[in-house]
Amino acid sequence: MKGTPAMDAARKQRIKESFKTITQHEEALTDLVYKKLFSLCPHARAMFPEDMTTHKMQMSVALGLIVKSLENFATVEEHLMEMGGEHADSGVKPDYYPIMSDALLSAMATVSGPAWTPQIEEDWTIAINTIISSMLKGTSDSDQAREAA
Ligand code: HEM
Repeated sequence: MKGTPAMDAARKQRIKESFKTITQHEEALTDLVYKKLFSLCPHARAMFPEDMTTHKMQMSVALGLIVKSLENFATVEEHLMEMGGEHADSGVKPDYYPIMSDALLSAMATVSGPAWTPQIEEDWTIAINTIISSMLKGTSDSDQAREAA
């Protein structure tokens, strides 16, 4: 994801504030994310376990950690790259990420209600693109590692 604008201090602050609202609806958020993901990409359903409870919790924890680390993104970047490599190994294709991004944004908009503004949408779009870029960096690293092996 080339050309993603940098996260300036004001943007990080808005995301943190917005996340406070979003986490009040944690369960609804993850329900909506996967409902949307599976409606946009039905064949992704088979990649996940039947019982999504643990996975929804993992996604929620991951988002919380990322938001907490916005001030020092380098501390989570390596973990995101590793996660991207693991996702690639589980068959997650780069093409699926924009679908996850749409699912996350749409779920966040729904649970945020009137607090969701065009500015917040832009902030989260940039944050999610940054996360996905890091995960995809790990994907190309794992491809390179495989090719080198
Ligand atoms: C913003 C992007 C994403 C984030 C933050 C994310 C986060 C996570 C987390 C935290 C886990 C738990 C295990 C681990 O740490 O690796 C996980 C597992 C998984 N993710 Fe993602 N993910 C993302 C994108 C995607 C996409 C696009 C797909 C495919 C449509 C996907 C499919 C999976 C699958 C199949 C698992 C394993 C499920 C299981 O066996 O429980 N993820 N993801």
